[in-house]
Amino acid sequence: MKSYDVVIIGGGPGGYNAAIRAGQLGLSVACVEGRSTLGGTCLNVGCMPSKALLHASELYEAASGDEFAHLGIEVKPTLNLAQMMKQKDESVTGLTKGIEYLFRKNKVDWIKGWGRLDGVGKVIVKAEDGSETALQAKDIVIATGSEPTPLPGVTIDNQRIIDSTGALALPQVPKHLVVIGAGVIGLELGSVWRRLGAQVTVIEYLDRICPGIDEETAKTLQKALTKQGMAFKLGSKVTQAKTEAEGVSLTLEPAAGGAAETLQADYVLVAIGRRPYTKGLNLESVGLETDKRGMLSNEHHRTSVPGVWVIGDVTSGPMLAHKAEDEAVACIERIAGKPHEVNYNLIPGVIYTRPELATVGKTEEQLKAEGRAYKVGKFPFTANSRAKINHETEGFAKVIADANTDEVLGVHLVGPSVSEMIGEFCVAMEFAASAEDIALICHPHPTRSEALRQAAMNVHGMAMQI
Ligand code: FAD
Ligand code: NAI
Repeated sequence: MKSYDVVIIGGGPGGYNAAIRAGQLGLSVACVEGRSTLGGTCLNVGCMPSKALLHASELYEAASGDEFAHLGIEVKPTLNLAQMMKQKDESVTGLTKGIEYLFRKNKVDWIKGWGRLDGVGKVIVKAEDGSETALQAKDIVIATGSEPTPLPGVTIDNQRIIDSTGALALPQVPKHLVVIGAGVIGLELGSVWRRLGAQVTVIEYLDRICPGIDEETAKTLQKALTKQGMAFKLGSKVTQAKTEAEGVSLTLEPAAGGAAETLQADYVLVAIGRRPYTKGLNLESVGLETDKRGMLSNEHHRTSVPGVWVIGDVTSGPMLAHKAEDEAVACIERIAGKPHEVNYNLIPGVIYTRPELATVGKTEEQLKAEGRAYKVGKFPFTANSRAKINHETEGFAKVIADANTDEVLGVHLVGPSVSEMIGEFCVAMEFAASAEDIALICHPHPTRSEALRQAAMNVHGMAMQI
């Protein structure tokens, strides 16, 4: 039986980053992954392929519509969907191979197959050919990720009723794509297919999109997406889905009750959230249990069983790749005896639509609920010179600061390239910056980042360019 300091089950952003850090710290480490490629959901069927299609579809739409023509570029693009998918797949392969390289560089053994616990300190891996290998480890890290939450009555067949993985590889542009769930996946992948020519209807159970995100910010994004042609049916629930030869017939009702209606779609994307994945892990062998949602709880990444740790989507917190990565580093450093904390208050969230939405820290709704006095500074992109010359003026930067100390508590952005700008505030907030600090710091001109500075100035009513 091969023996390691650490065995990690799962090779996604949680697992592969944990493995790399363990290797860097000189621990002997194996990472067990059952998929044929490393990188987990994120690299294979999540963050990366979705961003590849968002990028390509954004350029296609810009070239197809008035946007290029307005800039004086006259083209008539033709969609080559097969090539769009091929370049996405090639990028994904490049990235997953990159993790293999990083494993070699950091002396991480990739044990191919599905792992299960076999008592404390033991993992059994079943390979594709059915053979089994037993591994021994001082510490075991569970990083098995998540899977799409199913919707009763709407069975995913990945033919006509699809999950996000199906929506990343459709063979044709749907005439009508119905998305169930106005969350991150629904808005991103709904945008991809709308840009490529589909009519897109998003059905959401709640009376707002993107629950948990600052409400004014989410509403601004919804307005922009509606203007682009995405239709929203809020406060609605799907009660039935019947697959027919050429599509799906959906029955929906108001969430609060009322008359039912039917909707025809040629594809239905179910995107109502993800749930932790622990299938086949044999948790009983170490006496571990999941909660009602299937989640393994943790305290500083430790489960209730000594020597068994848990990180990423399979445990509490936002299901985001960078959260899994941060937990990976903190967990391994703790295993190596180094104190390390994840600051869960400062995990940014981004929706990669156009305009993008980026957020970090507290929302106005949270601060109201906490009874904390705050001030808001806002600055619209219509008043930002770079956004104006690029004709990308939708959205705003919003900075929320403590009314007494001026410490920045939350930042909510809708606008062009805000995914690349939110990091500025993650750094500033980690150092407990005040809105005044940001207002006093020189930002390059002309950039969209100036809107963030102006919003910080406006916490005190001192924005200069509006
Ligand atoms: P995963 O990435 O799910 O990896 C877990 C791995 O464990 C999988 O490869 C699985 O095969 C393996 N595994 C499971 N059980 C076993 C076992 N018993 N033995 C061996 N291997 C096992 N997040 C972002 O931050 N930004 C984004 O832009 C973004 N876009 C997304 C788009 C989509 C369409 C989806 C679905 C998700 C997206 N996410 C995004 C979320 C992100 O993918 C996850 O938060 C992230 O992958 C979680 O990492 P993880 O390591 O915890 O789990
Ligand atoms: P989500 O939690 O973002 O959104 C799900 C939406 O579905 C919510 O608005 C919810 O109210 C709604 N909903 C739930 N049940 C419903 C029902 N029965 N009928 C209609 N609506 C219903 O989940 P999503 O979009 O599936 O994404 C899963 C996870 O993947 C998220 O946690 C997200 O963090 C991650 N992800 C992150 C991305 C990013 O960072 N850019 C991109 C894509 C996914």
